[in-house]
Amino acid sequence: MLNKDLKTLANKTIVLTGGTSGIGYEIVRLLESKNKIMVVARASERLEKLKSEFPTVKTFAADLSQPEQYKNLASQILHHSNTIDVLINNAAVQYTPTFLDDHFSYPSIESQINLNFTSICALSYLLLPALLHEEATRRKTAIVNINSGLALAPKSSSAIYCATKGALDVFSQSLAYQLEHSNVQVMQAFLPIVDTSMTQGRGKNKISAKQAAQAIVNGIEKGQLINDIGKVALLRVLLRVAPSIAKKIMKEA
Ligand SMILES: NC(=O)c1ccc[n+]([C@@H]2O[C@H](COP(=O)([O-])OP(=O)(O)OC[C@H]3O[C@@H](n4cnc5c(N)ncnc54)[C@H](OP(=O)(O)O)[C@@H]3O)[C@@H](O)[C@H]2O)c1
Repeated sequence: MLNKDLKTLANKTIVLTGGTSGIGYEIVRLLESKNKIMVVARASERLEKLKSEFPTVKTFAADLSQPEQYKNLASQILHHSNTIDVLINNAAVQYTPTFLDDHFSYPSIESQINLNFTSICALSYLLLPALLHEEATRRKTAIVNINSGLALAPKSSSAIYCATKGALDVFSQSLAYQLEHSNVQVMQAFLPIVDTSMTQGRGKNKISAKQAAQAIVNGIEKGQLINDIGKVALLRVLLRVAPSIAKKIMKEA
């Protein structure tokens, strides 16, 4: 379905989590000159640097692994703008050690679930009033959840990360049902391995963060509810025709 109102991302109000690094940063670079962008990330020199590099970008400091910060963050965003065209839930972390590793960090379980999943449910709920439009003034808006091929088939490391991405897929599908008669579209971009700080020192045949950002933006403009980027398209086919082979490949990914 062609999403007419978002077919060019220009003059839009966009909220993006995790815009200080990797794919999020490249999305900011692509969209900032033509749109009103609000970026959420933790307070840091990186966030300050982003502000000075792109003076038109409005930044909000919040730690999305801390649920007690969600309501305050949402009200700051809504105070700044009571309408939003696109909410891009991009911030996430991946903790790679296994449960058998001596140095496995127990607190990483909760903080990853909070950041990668709970914060997305919470922001989608808390910011929904700014995305919804009355019948008369209705125009399309979108919640775009940045997902991973690991949501479709997990690898053996990063169990919590894979689980949060699987949960994000199910949440996105159910939320899309809830919103199907509204003006809000729920989209997901499923990424293959991308060359960012998240994958530093591991993995091969990575696409660049710039390529990932461009593919995400293209998907939004085309109104793709499911945007399988790069090798994820192949993975989805393989999971249908040869699921055990696909799972074996992903297990070692
Ligand atoms: N890289 C890949 O291979 C790959 C593959 C599939 C899917 N993805 C997905 O793509 C998205 C972007 O990943 P990336 O590779 O670009 O990662 P990245 O370079 O590590 O960037 C992560 C972003 O999330 C923010 N963030 C981290 N912890 C946060 C917290 N507690 N509160 C608020 N913001 C926080 C970071 O900002 P601060 O640190 O400044 O707070 C940063 O801007 C993620 O959803 C990831 O799961 C990535």
